[in-house]
Amino acid sequence: MNYIREIKKDIYWVGASDKRLALFENMFPIPEGVSYNAYLINDEKTCLLDTVDVSARLDFLDNLKAALKGRDLDYLVVNHMEPDHCALIEELALKYPKMIVIGNPKTFNFIKQFYNLDLSERSLLVYDENELDLGKHHLRFYMAPMVHWPEVMMTYETSEKIIFSADAFGSFGANDGNIFNDENKIDDRWFAEARRYYANIVGKYGQQVIATLNKLSKLDIRMIAPLHGLVWRSDLLTIINKYKTWASYTPEENKAIIIYASMYGNTAKAAQVLNVLVNENGIHGTKVYDVSKTPISELISESFRASHIILASPTYNGDVYPLINNYLHDLKMLNLQNRTFAFIENGTWGPISGRIMKEKIESLKNIKVLDPIVTIRSALNETSYEDLKTLSYSIQYSIDTK
Ligand code: FEO
Repeated sequence: MNYIREIKKDIYWVGASDKRLALFENMFPIPEGVSYNAYLINDEKTCLLDTVDVSARLDFLDNLKAALKGRDLDYLVVNHMEPDHCALIEELALKYPKMIVIGNPKTFNFIKQFYNLDLSERSLLVYDENELDLGKHHLRFYMAPMVHWPEVMMTYETSEKIIFSADAFGSFGANDGNIFNDENKIDDRWFAEARRYYANIVGKYGQQVIATLNKLSKLDIRMIAPLHGLVWRSDLLTIINKYKTWASYTPEENKAIIIYASMYGNTAKAAQVLNVLVNENGIHGTKVYDVSKTPISELISESFRASHIILASPTYNGDVYPLINNYLHDLKMLNLQNRTFAFIENGTWGPISGRIMKEKIESLKNIKVLDPIVTIRSALNETSYEDLKTLSYSIQYSIDTK
């Protein structure tokens, strides 16, 4: 059996979803699973755009067979060589001996690295804006380096005006057969998963994403068909504008988040007291996270959403609490910019975590740090409570004047 969907006449979604995988890239929790999208154009020539992860192999092969309707496979376009999309290249090359593989020079370098596969007689090298006729359908290729690997390209189908966009515009979440955006509720929860995917997977490469968005802006695009998540056939600007915001590291909301680490509850209490004070100053909607309970990928996603990030950490072995360190390392690696930070440090002796956190974020671009850094010695007292109050006014002023 198969579960293909025709996304336009003779163009089929032939991907598959995986709800058993716990961690994407063996790192990011995916409680709602993930989809691996692949597409088949069944024209005078048949052309598959990408394959899937090996975990989705059986469903994908059933779907591909159904969409081919007994025909041979003429072309495989490899838009992205990461194994969640290229895992079945070798198997398809053996199964369809006439299949020509289409990619750019970097694609073929990576194919050689992953597979012991001689494609010398079956390769079609393409460069920016090269074209290929399939019959009624016509493909044009656009290089999209570092969105999110160097070989990434996108394929534009000119008759239906579909952009096959590789990882761009993707999301976490299995699609359960509801492959189109208008078959799903696109609410805050959906965007949270889309942002978590973007920020953690592609977030480092904002500049390259903007360059690709600019390159695509001259195209008349009626449908976006990414390698993960939903196929967008309406309201395209909704997802395009989110990508513009995320890629330019612009906060989506003028709001604060508080991320704390706490071994025995004293730093947690300070975080909560600060949020009460901030609320009493009229600033609402601040979310408070325990770094030990919330996956770092979610904290990263929230940091791409919010304009103000308040970090509270005990001093631990003369440094910052290790999980806060992990978060700060990811923030730096993912190039987050344009944010306002505030810090609370705790320490029974020698509290220095606030100063260290401040040093760690100073290499980020266009960062502001609010005064004061609040120092707690073991537990809140009248002095540190007054400092929290002062910080709450700084946060209020900063949010109100943005
Ligand atoms: Fe979904 Fe960069 O692979």
